[in-house]
Amino acid sequence: MTKPPIIVVTGAAAGIGAAVVAHLNRAGALVVSVDRAPATDDSVDFVQADLSDPGSIEAAVLQLPPRIDGLCNVAGVSGVGGADLTIRVNFLGLRKLTVDLGDRLARGSSVVNVGSFAGVGWPARKAELLTLARTRGFDEGLAWLERHPVPDDSAYPYSKEVLRVWSQMLAARWVERGIRVNVVNPGPVETAILTEFVQVLGEEKVGDDIGRAGRAGTADDIASAIAWLALPESRWVNGADLPVDGGLAASFFEENK
Ligand code: NAI
Repeated sequence: MTKPPIIVVTGAAAGIGAAVVAHLNRAGALVVSVDRAPATDDSVDFVQADLSDPGSIEAAVLQLPPRIDGLCNVAGVSGVGGADLTIRVNFLGLRKLTVDLGDRLARGSSVVNVGSFAGVGWPARKAELLTLARTRGFDEGLAWLERHPVPDDSAYPYSKEVLRVWSQMLAARWVERGIRVNVVNPGPVETAILTEFVQVLGEEKVGDDIGRAGRAGTADDIASAIAWLALPESRWVNGADLPVDGGLAASFFEENK
């Protein structure tokens, strides 16, 4: 009998992450939750970590299994906490956890990062984003950001842009190790964070995005794509930057031609 895959899921305590845990459990995976808060599903192993804090990430890594078949980086914050916190959690902490677990990711394993439709502007800033994505480690990333400050009101899109750029960079680098790296980019989804997006982006923008997609997404709409990318059935999909947004990104296609 083949062993069940061991998959680490961040942000597993709520929203999309909790839905990913449910999908992976149904698929027979062994899930380890990493979050600030305990998982709602108490059958799941839980390791507490604050992804804004490199020391906390290192302590969590020590408690995680020695061999891992998948990592779903779902945890994220909306931007209401300001640029420093937002970029720490959404990019620098996510990157540190992934790189620190790199040696434990088995050949054939899969990393799935949750970006956002909000990061759609990355091509226009690719060169700048690459310089941040190429910094080595958490502290070097922070030092780069001190030299190139990001305004609080654009921190969320910026954090997701750099995540999307770095993820594609990492996919290319890890091909030779047989580890896949993909990004899922949700449109507006009905979870706790959505009310904060209304504060950051305004009701009109969020309402327009929901209108373009036909409806707001559910956590489950996103989780099924994340779980599929995390499991071997998607084995030839690598380096994808996948919209899961009901057609929101496509709705701008002709406008931006
Ligand atoms: P949520 O607010 O329901 O869940 C976020 C999870 O991340 C929570 O379990 C929270 O405890 C955890 N978390 C936050 N800060 C953390 C930290 N410092 N350390 C450890 N864990 C931390 O939000 P949701 O919707 O489930 O978001 C999941 C991901 O989806 C995020 O990366 C978000 O940016 C992304 N996303 C969400 C959209 C939406 O409309 N809900 C749209 C586009 C992207």
